[in-house]
Amino acid sequence: MIANVNGKICGGDDAVVSVFDHGFVFGEGVYETLRTYERRPFLLERHLQRLRASAAMIDLALPLDDAEIGRRIAETIAAVEGGTEVYLRILVTPGPGEFSYDPTARRNPTFVIIARTFAPPSPGLYAMGVTITVVSISRSQPNSVNPLIKSNNLLPNAMAMREAMRRGAYEGLMLNYRGEITECTQSNFFIVKQDAILTPPLESGLLAGITRELIIECARETGVPLEETVIRMHDLLTADEAFLSSTTRELVPVVQVDRHVIGTGQPGAVTTRLLGAFRERAVRLSR
Ligand SMILES: Cc1ncc(COP(=O)(O)O)c(C=O)c1O
Repeated sequence: MIANVNGKICGGDDAVVSVFDHGFVFGEGVYETLRTYERRPFLLERHLQRLRASAAMIDLALPLDDAEIGRRIAETIAAVEGGTEVYLRILVTPGPGEFSYDPTARRNPTFVIIARTFAPPSPGLYAMGVTITVVSISRSQPNSVNPLIKSNNLLPNAMAMREAMRRGAYEGLMLNYRGEITECTQSNFFIVKQDAILTPPLESGLLAGITRELIIECARETGVPLEETVIRMHDLLTADEAFLSSTTRELVPVVQVDRHVIGTGQPGAVTTRLLGAFRERAVRLSR
């Protein structure tokens, strides 16, 4: 694992930031997770757009333009030894300052890129599918800390994921205060019903996942009907297929939710076709 801290590349042990950073003191900050395809950062422009949008929502001005961020990312990828693909996490925090919520109290944001070789999930995961669980922690409402903000402050997600792990589940599915399905702790969520794909709308309170966006584009391109619509537990329990999505995992079939088996209990045909289309598109877009 290596890191680029404010433009300086260093090994894991030497990567340090100030304890007075408001990222540490107040838990303020935003991040992005990227991976490479063929050693090139995938959909960098979209990730930077979302990073800027997240930063704006917490009154944080990014200290670098896209060209400079691109340069730092390229240098950091080049410094990762071995392996074919690279995992990248970009973190931006307000930087050190007096203990005050006043945004003028901090003047030098901290810009970190963490990188390591990317190990894709095992093929067995895609062949067998996974079991997820509905967790007790709600996804926050858009008028609280808006889930559109990809915030470094991941306490609810971490607690929800630990609940899922205690139950032996691969992921935790989070509902909102109205009981609508939103997303998983680290991924977006989809169901398939009568050959149509359904996914919760952003208004239900979820991250605008970049993989989710690409899946919507893939479905359009391949003529599979896809609708962003409110999904409740009844819809999930009567679904033919389900899957989750994220940058590092692409599309992972979900075959069981708690004790309930989805469809045939095997990864479904629509999910499998879409995963193939997604991978083709990913390679095409990364060239
Ligand atoms: C809460 C949450 N939802 C969805 C996603 C998937 O987003 P993306 O496809 O942009 O990786 C993530 C990824 O980390 C996440 O943390």
